[in-house]
Amino acid sequence: VVFFLCVFLCWVSVGSAIRSQWGLDFSSSNVLNVIDFGAVGDGKTDDSQAFLKAWDKACTSWNPSTLVVPSDKSFLLLPVVTFQGPCKAPSINFQVFQSMEQEKLMDKDGLGGNAERNINAQEHPHQQKHVAIDGCSGVKISDVWIVAPESSPNTDGIHIQSSKNVEISKSTIGTGDDCISIGTDTSNVTISDIFCGPGHGISIGSLGKFKRAAVEHIYVHNCTFKGTQNGARIKTWQGGFGYAKDIRFKDITLDSSDNPIIIDQYYCNGGDDCKNSTSAVKVSDVWFTNFRGTSSSKTAINLACSESVACEDIHLNHVHITGVDSEVVPYTLNVKGRTIDVKPEAYLDRPT
Ligand SMILES: *[C@@H]1O[C@H](CO)[C@@H](O)[C@H](O)[C@H]1NC(C)=O
Ligand SMILES: *[C@@H]1O[C@H](CO)[C@@H](O)[C@H](O)[C@H]1NC(C)=O
Ligand SMILES: *[C@@H]1O[C@H](CO)[C@@H](O)[C@H](O)[C@H]1NC(C)=O
Repeated sequence: VVFFLCVFLCWVSVGSAIRSQWGLDFSSSNVLNVIDFGAVGDGKTDDSQAFLKAWDKACTSWNPSTLVVPSDKSFLLLPVVTFQGPCKAPSINFQVFQSMEQEKLMDKDGLGGNAERNINAQEHPHQQKHVAIDGCSGVKISDVWIVAPESSPNTDGIHIQSSKNVEISKSTIGTGDDCISIGTDTSNVTISDIFCGPGHGISIGSLGKFKRAAVEHIYVHNCTFKGTQNGARIKTWQGGFGYAKDIRFKDITLDSSDNPIIIDQYYCNGGDDCKNSTSAVKVSDVWFTNFRGTSSSKTAINLACSESVACEDIHLNHVHITGVDSEVVPYTLNVKGRTIDVKPEAYLDRPT
């Protein structure tokens, strides 16, 4: 029951791809244009209230709704707009036809009711994201374009946490932090056809610092990383518990990316955080398949697993990474798994 409630409480979609999926059949759907709720769209006026009014209308209706943000205007939403459930509507389709200035959208279901489940505020007090999906099930985002300066700190493109059944596709993301990041209590996420750069890549984590990690069934395919600080990344803090498993990165193109393949179980911010510990998030069943392109760092493959808790069932298949201007090498620490056709040639410990 909880699962279905969850599905129906939070189904927020952004993007034009949804139009075709639902055939633009608005006959049974409320069409709510934010302009009709007082949005100005001059790029200077704060339109947050208008968006929230439109959302309220959609959320409290028993019918599916489509929120329309027109293309010929520029909307300003400050500082963070939270579109929150629980909603009566079986589905809400959010069509953004143009990039919004300083867009910071947060989608959240109401499973926790008003019980202050704001994990963002607890876990990342200073962190901002362009889009945060938190406590949702059944979210699809496609055809979005998110841009922030490479030098802007903590500007994740899309952050997902405490959510399941999420699809992100056909988007271009360039920011000063992760293009897409996945936090704990998350499962069944498919990410495809993403162009990421600049930015810190697609990251699972950081995990294990604030609570037990539970991340599984994450599929990332057909993505390009250009000039990014990382490509496919899993990062965990020392001293953590829990797991990250069944994670697949496939068909990845790299164009002068630092750290194209990286598992970092020594993630820290300096100080006590960096002390070595014997507990760690268990990383297993991770596949890096069909990677092509160039690395701007020497260590093109960097798998630094906990010395006490090995990464297991790690697979590198058909990975061909060359250096932009020097030879590249692999680094592996306590990794069990198998490789097939990998350059630079990496050796993993045999599975036990
Ligand atoms: C995974 O999520 C997709 C939607 O993104 C959904 O269609 C699919 O049924 C989910 N799979 C499972 C096993 O729940
Ligand atoms: C891969 O993604 C690109 C967009 O980044 C898209 O143009 C292309 O069609 C996708 N390829 C496949 C096989 O889906
Ligand atoms: C923790 O262990 C790693 C792996 O052996 C090592 O590289 C690092 O220097 C250690 N850190 C400290 C603070 O001892």
